[in-house]
Amino acid sequence: MLNINGITKIFAKGTPNEHMALNNLSLNLDKGEFVTIVGSNGAGKSTLFNAICGTFFVDNGTITLDGRDITYLKEHKRSKIIGRVFQDPMRGTAPNLTIEENIALAYARVNHGPLGKALNKKDVALFKEKLKAFDMGLEDRMKTKVGLLSGGQRQVVTLLMCTIVPPKLLLLDEHTAALDPATSDKIMKITNDIIKEFNLTTLMITHNINSALKTGTRTIMMDEGQIILDISGEERKNMQLNDLLTLYSQRSHKVFDNDRMLFNE
Ligand SMILES: Nc1ncnc2c1ncn2[C@@H]1O[C@H](COP(=O)(O)OP(=O)(O)O)[C@@H](O)[C@H]1O
Ligand SMILES: [Mg+2]
Repeated sequence: MLNINGITKIFAKGTPNEHMALNNLSLNLDKGEFVTIVGSNGAGKSTLFNAICGTFFVDNGTITLDGRDITYLKEHKRSKIIGRVFQDPMRGTAPNLTIEENIALAYARVNHGPLGKALNKKDVALFKEKLKAFDMGLEDRMKTKVGLLSGGQRQVVTLLMCTIVPPKLLLLDEHTAALDPATSDKIMKITNDIIKEFNLTTLMITHNINSALKTGTRTIMMDEGQIILDISGEERKNMQLNDLLTLYSQRSHKVFDNDRMLFNE
């Protein structure tokens, strides 16, 4: 489904600040795989997402999604088939537009519909029904400006915008990290439900190693622009937090230094 073959990204090439953020990285995902990604700060996790989304073109290697070579496809075209939720709840939505306007824009963009068209009643009913299932009371606030919502509510709206037309790939970049623990749990449950409903192929970066091992079907660990560990199946089922940290130290010759990492959740 997703085939990343030997991608490299060097920032500030030829300057004293030259930095290889992705180093000949390869990763293959089957349809419906839900992969969690962990790694120290600066390991290249977000850069990997940027490369997949086309924020920049990679210096080397290829990226294929659902049989289509997207290595040189423009970012706005990729965004129609790739959904992405960021850590910052402000990033995914337009604050001055209402909930229904935000969702309608996302829906029209992917469906090639006219953006200026009046909101269709049937579509609004669909958005409402979807929001109701998330049980956050948002279905009664369709005409509320998104800027007035809490971080958790905004992340739910963003999640719906990314999945109202199921994307070929869903990328979650620590999308619950800025939320309080109870809200974070709730958003994670909604995320799991959506992924299950559409059998979405998903990559999720998380700073929470424990939940990385319990969520999804496979876990990869990144360090210095490379994948240093890739576990699934029985091996993953039996892996404890400490085993993972030990493997990290062995393979990277460092101590895991993600300052925001939570050990016991
Ligand atoms: N646009 C950029 N320009 C220069 N350096 C960058 C840029 N984006 C990321 N980097 C560098 O690449 C490395 C990996 O960053 P990032 O992918 O954001 O790490 P992570 O998400 O794993 O914490 C870091 O050293 C970061 O400073
Ligand atoms: Mg990051």
